[in-house]
Amino acid sequence: MYRTKTCGALRLTDLNQAVTLAGWVQKARKFGGMIFVDLRDRYGITQVVFNQDVNSGLCDQAAKLGREWVVQVKGTVAERSNKNPNLPTGEIEIIATELTTLNPSDTPPFTIEEDTDGGDDLRMKYRYLDLRRTSVRSNLELRHRMAFAVRSYLNERNFMEVETPVLVGSTPEGARDFIVPSRMNPGEFYALPQSPQLFKQLLMVSGFDRYFQIVKCYRDEDLRADRQPEFTQIDCEMSFVEQEDILNIFEGLTQYLFKAIKGIDIPTFPRLPYADAMRLYGSDKPDTRFGMQFIEIKDLTTGKGFGVFDSAGYVGMICAEGCASYTRKQLDELTDYVKRPQIGAKGLVYVRYDADGTLKSSVDKFYSPQDLQGWIDRAKAQPGDLLLILCGEVEKTQKQLSELRLEMGARLGLRNKNQFNCLWVTDFPLLEYDEELKRYFAKHHPFTSPKPEDIPLLESRPGDVRANAYDMVINGVEVGGGSIRIYNSELQQKMFSVLGFSEEQAQAQFGFLMNAFKYGAPPHGGIAFGLDRLVSLFAGLDSIRDCIAFPKNNSGRDVMFDAPSTVSQEQLDELHLKITLPL
Ligand code: AMO
Repeated sequence: MYRTKTCGALRLTDLNQAVTLAGWVQKARKFGGMIFVDLRDRYGITQVVFNQDVNSGLCDQAAKLGREWVVQVKGTVAERSNKNPNLPTGEIEIIATELTTLNPSDTPPFTIEEDTDGGDDLRMKYRYLDLRRTSVRSNLELRHRMAFAVRSYLNERNFMEVETPVLVGSTPEGARDFIVPSRMNPGEFYALPQSPQLFKQLLMVSGFDRYFQIVKCYRDEDLRADRQPEFTQIDCEMSFVEQEDILNIFEGLTQYLFKAIKGIDIPTFPRLPYADAMRLYGSDKPDTRFGMQFIEIKDLTTGKGFGVFDSAGYVGMICAEGCASYTRKQLDELTDYVKRPQIGAKGLVYVRYDADGTLKSSVDKFYSPQDLQGWIDRAKAQPGDLLLILCGEVEKTQKQLSELRLEMGARLGLRNKNQFNCLWVTDFPLLEYDEELKRYFAKHHPFTSPKPEDIPLLESRPGDVRANAYDMVINGVEVGGGSIRIYNSELQQKMFSVLGFSEEQAQAQFGFLMNAFKYGAPPHGGIAFGLDRLVSLFAGLDSIRDCIAFPKNNSGRDVMFDAPSTVSQEQLDELHLKITLPL
């Protein structure tokens, strides 16, 4: 037997037990005639002691151990004189009686401890060593527990996990596809699925009723902290349901996860229609851990001779409580922040409502104290508060004000990682107009059902049609999204025509779905969660990379595998591919 106990198991109650441990040498320290070895495995760290006076041969053997050697130690559990309260095993140590080197190790390129000396690139290149670090491993343990809890919740409610293919056909809507050449079908390609959307709808036609799958999805998009080219969805679909049924089941799933994993009770989720989310927060995924909602003052600012506000379609502000004391330098910093190209505001107007009641603004030239008081009243601001105002074209300015709100929330410490505010954003627009391509796109996907009362607007005012679509948002992160689907092939055809597909194109791309719908498609709908995002939220991580065992870097590369890579000419020939490389 390689081991009788793990390195995280032993306590004072195990005193005098003879045990065998196996693990990695985290550290070996010489202290007088003693050698102390920290032995690590997945479960923890246990101190092992070699005493020169008791067994000098064994001690000489221990002196040769290097970092990350794999060893087996036999010995007896003893009470430590110098206890370590930071380790669960910190009250005991093992007095070694036997040491076997199972495998020596090269010196690792960085220290495998919490505060490692390895930079990001190096740790990614040696990810298998990085994964030995407790913080990284515990993120993956959390991920496992969450996935397990999801399966248990859904299984208890009759959901059935069904695997769907990874080699599928390319579809035009959504993000860019990763494509895979087919050797047996020269000149033809598979695509990797962006989600199992079509398959799960077909499973509903098959009568599967309640489906789920924890499944890899692939999207060739630009990467960000919350985006990976391959990521994992908790993908779900249900038949004979309305939006309300879906929201209830999956609100329940989220509450179950919070309770089971973090011991937190989450109250009923508020529901916020998309239009209100945009009006109050300038975002369809508002962080509702703090208020600071938008206040519109276009009507109060017009006609006072300030051309910038007069010509703007939108003048809106946020009230930063207690920030009237901001210095010139702090206000300049905020102005620079909103003027950064990523945000793109032209400038920032402020009104300081000093503690003594005086008002001071950057537009005093144009607005009287009474004018400013009108803004203060609308904001219900208190002495000591600061109003921050942006203006311009409606949607752009709301977006900019949203960034400013998040920045102020962060500066004021209002975005606490241990607080969780969940909500549903509902009533999304069905379609989105692309100014460049001069056509409508499905905001969610082309199978999303319009709200029945808005169907008559489909042809006349497509931009005003709302969808039976919803997102789950937690702390400003879109953790999941879904919709009630169109199950009537006529309505589906109409939708394709609004999206600018000719009948032939629709038939070529989605014919199998429309045909399937002719054979008794039940009313159905579903949702998919981003598992990586959920785990990151639960773990308080800044990037989803930290809860993925082998993630890609920001250029989409696997630096350990060195993928993507070139392939041999033979492979290319077999695939009938001719590659012309850019010079
Ligand atoms: P959607 O495209 O909204 O919906 O995706 C669902 C959820 O998946 C997560 N997600 C991502 N996570 C990490 N990296 C990415 N690149 C990435 N892209 C998306 C998000 C998102 O909310 N088939 C539909 C769902 C449905 O209608 O049932 C779909 O895929 O958390």
